[in-house]
Amino acid sequence: MRTNYCGFIDKQYLGQQVTLFGWAHRRRDHGGVIFIDLRDREGLVQVVIDPDTPNAFQTADKTRNEFVLKVIGTVRPRPEGTINANLKSGEIEVLASEVEILNAALTPPFMIDDENVNEEVRLKYRYIDLRRETMQKNLRMRYRIAMAVRQYLDAQGFIDIETPVLYKSTPEGAREFLVPSRMHDGQFYALPQSPQLFKQLLMVSGFDRYYQIVKCFRDEDLRADRQPEFTQIDIETSFLNEREIQDIMEGLVKAMWKAGVGVDLPDFPRITYAEAMSKYGSDKPDLRVKLELTELTDIVKDSGFKVFVDAANAKNGKVAALCLPAGNAMFARKELDDLAIFAAIYGAKGLAYIKVNDATKLNAEGLQSPIVKFFSEETLGKILTACNAKTGDIIFFCADKAKVVYDTLGALRSKLGHAKGFAEGGYKPVWVVDFPAYDFDEENNRYVSAHHPFTAPKDEHIALMDTDPSKVLAKAYDVAMNGWELGGGSVRIHQPALQQKQFKTLGISEEDQRAKFGFLLDALEYGAPPMGGIAFGLDRSVTLMCEKWDSIRDVIAFPKTQRGQDLMVDAPSAVPEKQLRDLHIKLRSTAQST
Ligand code: AMO
Ligand code: AMP
Repeated sequence: MRTNYCGFIDKQYLGQQVTLFGWAHRRRDHGGVIFIDLRDREGLVQVVIDPDTPNAFQTADKTRNEFVLKVIGTVRPRPEGTINANLKSGEIEVLASEVEILNAALTPPFMIDDENVNEEVRLKYRYIDLRRETMQKNLRMRYRIAMAVRQYLDAQGFIDIETPVLYKSTPEGAREFLVPSRMHDGQFYALPQSPQLFKQLLMVSGFDRYYQIVKCFRDEDLRADRQPEFTQIDIETSFLNEREIQDIMEGLVKAMWKAGVGVDLPDFPRITYAEAMSKYGSDKPDLRVKLELTELTDIVKDSGFKVFVDAANAKNGKVAALCLPAGNAMFARKELDDLAIFAAIYGAKGLAYIKVNDATKLNAEGLQSPIVKFFSEETLGKILTACNAKTGDIIFFCADKAKVVYDTLGALRSKLGHAKGFAEGGYKPVWVVDFPAYDFDEENNRYVSAHHPFTAPKDEHIALMDTDPSKVLAKAYDVAMNGWELGGGSVRIHQPALQQKQFKTLGISEEDQRAKFGFLLDALEYGAPPMGGIAFGLDRSVTLMCEKWDSIRDVIAFPKTQRGQDLMVDAPSAVPEKQLRDLHIKLRSTAQST
C-alpha cells in the first residue's frame, strides 16, 4: 500500500502519485490551506491540503499533532521562496487528494522536536521520546555498529553462541541480581554479570572462537556510563597470546567506528597501567587532553611543608602536580577555591597551587602561592624544573594516598584540559596493558582480583603470588577511549593447579572453590586449551559515537534511571503475597506486597 517513505521523497518523484503513512508532526492552518508535515522513520515531507478537496480538507482540519495518517497525493515543486534546504524533501511537497486518520492521539507531553525535555518525562513516555530524530538516529547507529561487529567477527571465524541468563551466585565481582527458585525452596539463580565462565567452557569444548552480543546484569551504583543491565560484545579465543588477541580486537573497534561514524581510527598506542597512572592519573586516560602529571614525592619528602612531607613518607603516599602552560591568567581567586571543592570530591584534603609570575625568582616575589613560604629556593627550583614550568604557568599540587592523588589530579586534568583549551577533538583510543593482578581490600584485609579471578598472571610473576601479590602483574588489557573504558579482557588461566593457587591467593577456601567453581576446576582437568578474550561495552561505544548525549541511556531503547527504575512500566514493583509464597519468600522489610 505504501509507495514511499516520507523522508525519501524528492524531485525525482515530481508529478507522481504517492501513498504515505506517518504521524502529523506539525499542522499549520494558512488561511484556507492546511499544511501537515508528515513524519515517518526516514523524515518529514510537507503535505498540502486544499479546500478544493473537501473530504481531505475536513479530515486535515480535525488532525492534531501526532495523529496517525494515511495520505494519497501528488508530488509537486514547492513555490519559489518556500524551499527548505534542511530537508531531503525540502524542494517538493505533496498535494493531498485523500487524507485518512488511522488513529487519533492525545496532545503529547512534549514536542517531538524539543531537545530540552526533562529526562524523567522522557523516560515515562519513552515510546514518544523515541520518535525524536536524535533517538531514532542513535538507535539506528547502534544497529549499524552491531551489524558491523557481527560481520567483522564472522569474517574472522567467530561464531555466536548463546549462554544462560539464569546462572549461579558467585562470590567475586559486583553485586548480582538474584532470582528465587520456585521449584527449589530457599535456592536462587543469579543473573550473569558476564558470560565469563561459559565462554571459557566453550573454549574447553573446542569452539576456538566465540562471540555474543549479550545482556549482562550488575547491581552496582549507577552513573552516566553504567546501567544495571547493559550489553557486552563478549569474545573468547583459543591458542592466541595477548598481542594476537589485541590485534584482532583492535580491528573490531576500527570496524565499529567506520560503520558508526565513518571514521578511520589510527593504530592504537599501547601504554602500561603504571604509565597511565603516573602520566594521566587514570587507567582510562583521555588522550585528547595534552597535559601530564608530574611526580614530586622524592623532591618534597624532606621539605618544610608538613602536609607534603607526611604524604611523601607515608606507605602508599604520593605528591604529584599538574602544570598548565600559560595557566596563570586563567584562574581568578574564586575559581581556585571552587577547584579545591572539586578536588574534595575525590578525597583530596586541599589543592595547593603556585602561580608562576616570574620563573627566575624562586620566592614569594616570583611565585604567588600559599605554600611557597614552606620551601627552600632549591626545592622550588626542582619543582619548577620537574614540572617544566615557565613564567605564566600555574601548577596544582595534591599530596595524599596514591589513589587520592591520582583520582584528584586525573579528574582535574580532564576537567581543566577540556575547559581551558588543552584538548583536541576526535577519537583517541589506547590499549592499557600490564594491569596489576590484585587490589588490596583494606576493609576485609585480603587481596581481590583487579579484573576477575580467571585472569592469568604474567608467567614471570607466578612466584610472587606467594611472596608479594601486590607486585603481580596480569595478562590483562583494556581499551580506553576519550576517558572511557570501552573494553577489558585478559588471557585466562587454563591449568587447574594455577587456578587453585589463584583462588588461594584470593583467600577463597578449598570448600568455597568447590562449591562455587567446582565445574570450572573440573573442566580445566579435561584438556582446557590456552585461551583469552575481551568484552566491549556496546552501550558505551555507541554513546561515544553519538553527537548528542547525556549518558548511555541515550543509546538504549528502554533504560533504567540512575535509581535503577523503569519509569514507563514502573519497575521494580511490589508483587502479590501469593506470588511470594510460591517462591518461599517472606519480606523482612516494612514494604508491603500488594
Ligand atoms: P568488564 O567487567 O571489564 O569485563 O566489562 C567489560 C565492559 O563492559 C562495559 N561495562 C558496562 N557498561 C555499562 N554499564 C555497566 N554497568 C557496565 N559494566 C561494564 C565496559 C567494560 O569495559 N568478563 C569480562 C571480560 C573478559 O575478561 O573477557 C568482563 O565482564 O565497557
Ligand atoms: P594550609 O597550610 O592548611 O592552609 O594549606 C596550604 C595550602 O595547601 C592550601 O592551599 C591547601 O589547599 C593546600 N593543601 C592542604 N592539604 C593539601 C594536600 N593534601 N594536598 C595538596 N594541597 C594541600
